[in-house]
Amino acid sequence: MTAHSVIHDRILQVYQNRILLGEDGLEYKLRPGAVSYVRGEFLSKTILQAGAVRTLETGLGSGLSTLFILEASVQNGAQHHSHVIMDPGQESFFHGVGTRLLKNTEVWEMVEFHGEASQTVMPRLITDGRTFDAIFIDGDHRFDGAFCDAYFAHRLLKPGGVLIIDDVWMDAVYLVCHFVEASYRYEIIGELQEGYSSAGPDAEIDDSFTYGRAKNRPSIRAYRKPLQDVADDYSFNLPFSPVREQIPEDVVRRRVSELSREALVALSVGDKKTARVLLMRALRFQPTRVKTHLRLARTFLPSGLARALGGKTHRSERRD
Ligand SMILES: C[S@@+](CC[C@H](N)C(=O)[O-])C[C@H]1O[C@@H](n2cnc3c(N)ncnc32)[C@H](O)[C@@H]1O
Repeated sequence: MTAHSVIHDRILQVYQNRILLGEDGLEYKLRPGAVSYVRGEFLSKTILQAGAVRTLETGLGSGLSTLFILEASVQNGAQHHSHVIMDPGQESFFHGVGTRLLKNTEVWEMVEFHGEASQTVMPRLITDGRTFDAIFIDGDHRFDGAFCDAYFAHRLLKPGGVLIIDDVWMDAVYLVCHFVEASYRYEIIGELQEGYSSAGPDAEIDDSFTYGRAKNRPSIRAYRKPLQDVADDYSFNLPFSPVREQIPEDVVRRRVSELSREALVALSVGDKKTARVLLMRALRFQPTRVKTHLRLARTFLPSGLARALGGKTHRSERRD
């Protein structure tokens, strides 16, 4: 069996069992923050097509994205210590499930792992003169963390190298992407509009995932760094303006309608708390919609009074 098919089999096994072994020998559930299968496939294909051998990744987590990267890079000829990964929470928060997965797949020799934050590791790599063919950012998702990763990645990537950014739907990450495009002039070479969550089919999906979908933002995006680095130009007039995006009207209408319908179903069975949460989500998309405000008010009233005021059932409001 070839090295990449051994890695691929292990990937399939993890998604099937959804259980990982920690460094302490205990079993842990696969966390929903891990890359979903389709996003992992996208990552792997992008690395393969780029012919990348020297790779870097921020945020080891469960180790799944690392396996997808290695699956592709071994086919490109990658050998020992070709993939640099970092994660300050691997031992504590993740109980070492990522490091254990790599050891059990017998690819530990292929990685250089740092149990530290990317913001301290990446500048050291720059000082050491290291460069990479492809970099995957999936570490600290807050703006400052994600921005630092992109800033250092830009300095570590070879000209024409590939940058892949995960969770583009998040506001902070989306803004970082906008900066990379507008100021560093990175070219989008691929993206996905699916596979937002890696949670299993029976898992409760975090609303933030549907938020990303509703904004028509990709789950993951790949860029090519320009051959000529504009950030090296010290006349330093990098263009950048805040994102002024409009969510398409039909997407807003559809999402608000879905949420209202679910809220009415909840109200009809007396579940006012769920109805309230759903209606508040709907207001995030359409803050001025009077009907939603009135329905929200009903969730604070005693059930009898709410019914009398509401009049309609969710069935009669289906065409909402
Ligand atoms: C969404 S998870 C990554 C999931 C991973 N790609 C996978 O497939 O399982 C984010 C990871 O980033 C790590 N992280 C958070 N802040 C970081 C930082 N400053 N530098 C590197 N990793 C960081 C977290 O500990 C977590 O493991």
